[in-house]
Amino acid sequence: MGFSSNFRTVYSNLYKLHPQLDNEEFRFRYLRVDWFFPQHINNVLEQIKRLGTKYFPEVDLEVALFAGLMHDAGLVYNRETSSPLGHEQRSEEYARRELSALSYSEEFIGRVCECIKATEPAYQASSPEALLVRNADAYAHMISMHFFAKSNFSKDIASFVDWFSDKLKTTHSKITIPELREELKPTVSFYESLIENYRRNRDIEDYCV
Ligand SMILES: [Fe+2]
Repeated sequence: MGFSSNFRTVYSNLYKLHPQLDNEEFRFRYLRVDWFFPQHINNVLEQIKRLGTKYFPEVDLEVALFAGLMHDAGLVYNRETSSPLGHEQRSEEYARRELSALSYSEEFIGRVCECIKATEPAYQASSPEALLVRNADAYAHMISMHFFAKSNFSKDIASFVDWFSDKLKTTHSKITIPELREELKPTVSFYESLIENYRRNRDIEDYCV
């Protein structure tokens, strides 16, 4: 079987793994197919193709696309707690399972797993495929409704703003392509000004009622 048919199979399996439209459970809402696929998965795949062509013409796009597709599978696959911690490891296990079933070689699977690892904040990506996936994942968050939508899925405004502030820094720092870092500077400053605005007004005590 060729790449596009295999890719469709893996995509469809992942889609079925995620909470479906009728799932209203609060902690799963962010991962529901109507949000997670258009907003994140399809977005990351689009950026892998676009940034790959522009900045990494030498990459193996099949490796990068499989990694982009499954890099967050661990948010759902074998997840036992409400914390997303360790999801990259579970995503690798999931990718290994899916790709072995389609008879991909150990070497190919290893390269996909390397790209999945590269989406972890502390990981030093070395292969061009891993760098591409790391940049595409972070960039997709920066140019989409991600941060705003997360407020809708969080339990209270204070923890949301703290999360936003931290996540903005780590997400921007994952972007290593100089032109993209530059392009995103006004967005980052704008987001920082929103956070600053909230904190400044929250801390005013003069209007006590
Ligand atoms: Fe992601």
